[in-house]
Amino acid sequence: MKTLQVELGERSYPIYIGPGLLDDVQRLGKHIQGRQVLIVSNETVAPLYVESVKAALPQGLQVTDVTLPDGEQHKTLAVLEKIFDAALAENHNRSTTILALGGGVVGDMAGFAAASYQRGVNFIQLPTTLLAQVDSSVGGKTAVNHPLGKNMIGAFYQPQAVLIDTNVLTTLPPREYAAGLAEVIKYGLICDADFYQWLRTRRDALKSRDPKTLSEAIERSCAAKAQVVAADEREGGIRAILNLGHTFGHAIEAQQGYGNWLHGEAVAAGMVLAARLSAERGDITAGEVDALVEWLEYQNLPVAPPPDMTVEQWLAHMARDKKVIDGRLRLVLLRAIGDACVVDDVSTAALEAFLAPFCAC
Ligand code: NAD
Ligand code: GLY
Repeated sequence: MKTLQVELGERSYPIYIGPGLLDDVQRLGKHIQGRQVLIVSNETVAPLYVESVKAALPQGLQVTDVTLPDGEQHKTLAVLEKIFDAALAENHNRSTTILALGGGVVGDMAGFAAASYQRGVNFIQLPTTLLAQVDSSVGGKTAVNHPLGKNMIGAFYQPQAVLIDTNVLTTLPPREYAAGLAEVIKYGLICDADFYQWLRTRRDALKSRDPKTLSEAIERSCAAKAQVVAADEREGGIRAILNLGHTFGHAIEAQQGYGNWLHGEAVAAGMVLAARLSAERGDITAGEVDALVEWLEYQNLPVAPPPDMTVEQWLAHMARDKKVIDGRLRLVLLRAIGDACVVDDVSTAALEAFLAPFCAC
């Protein structure tokens, strides 16, 4: 087992990575405070793993299960209320611990519930998708969607610990696994050219979910994320680079209807757009873009946005991006492979001209 640390002063916490961690009684028990536990999961993950987690809890706790409907379309305020309903019905108090057992949807919702239930309770991330293991469970971003925009209602709220059980990836459907790989590749693109090359040369091992390769990829991804979050917890600056491909990706997700494009799929297509725009600005080469496209396709990821979006739809979604400051859009682009930056000098006209060839209109 590997342990990393997210260094945030008094809010620092460990990330444990290894096989079988959901069954690790000592590890889980160490981070539970109080005598009450609320396990938040969903209707797909709960039947697979909730009993293991319950068996790993210390004896004598009051345990309440909340099973949410599965899917991005259920990441809403209305569904969030189910967590509060269960907590209140079972008299959970301020010393309760919320366990988020699932992918990024469960993690983001359970985290937001933990941030706001009785003004904040303990919570532990038990991520079960590759995407959640390398990205959403680390860093304290919690949220639900609004029909007008993704992750628009939420809070920064750090967990007490993240336990990454790599065994659970064996039950992940292929499309979800590929979506997680998009976020792994993102770390190489934004801040670690060596990691990017390391991953590229292991594309077959990644595709076949080779445990050793996967474990190292998860560890290096979490280390990169922990470093960025430690430098800029609330995204005043550098943390924005973690959003490479996300401004385009969130527009795709919202326009196509939440859940139709997976988050990681939208990020993959968005990263290609960001890479193409970076190449147009002369920062990376057309050959580097082609190599990225070929590799993402090999990992079964989409490399172009849906063709039915209009320029107006793109711009409307992008105007609501959380990186917009005083009406000015900021985009994460690449200065080089392994070196992302935030730019605010792409005019609306330039963006329209860039997007037009990808649009139906
Ligand atoms: P998800 O949570 O919808 O999970 C994907 C699917 O896999 C679901 O159907 C789920 O039930 C199923 N599943 C989960 N674990 C499984 C397992 N081990 N075996 C079988 N099936 C399993 O999607 P996701 O890709 O994990 O997360 C996407 C969400 O994460 C989005 O809402 C996105 O906005 C959010 N996100 C948040 C952050 C952050 O920093 N907070 C970062 C990236 C993404
Ligand atoms: N996934 C982007 C972030 O955590 O900041």
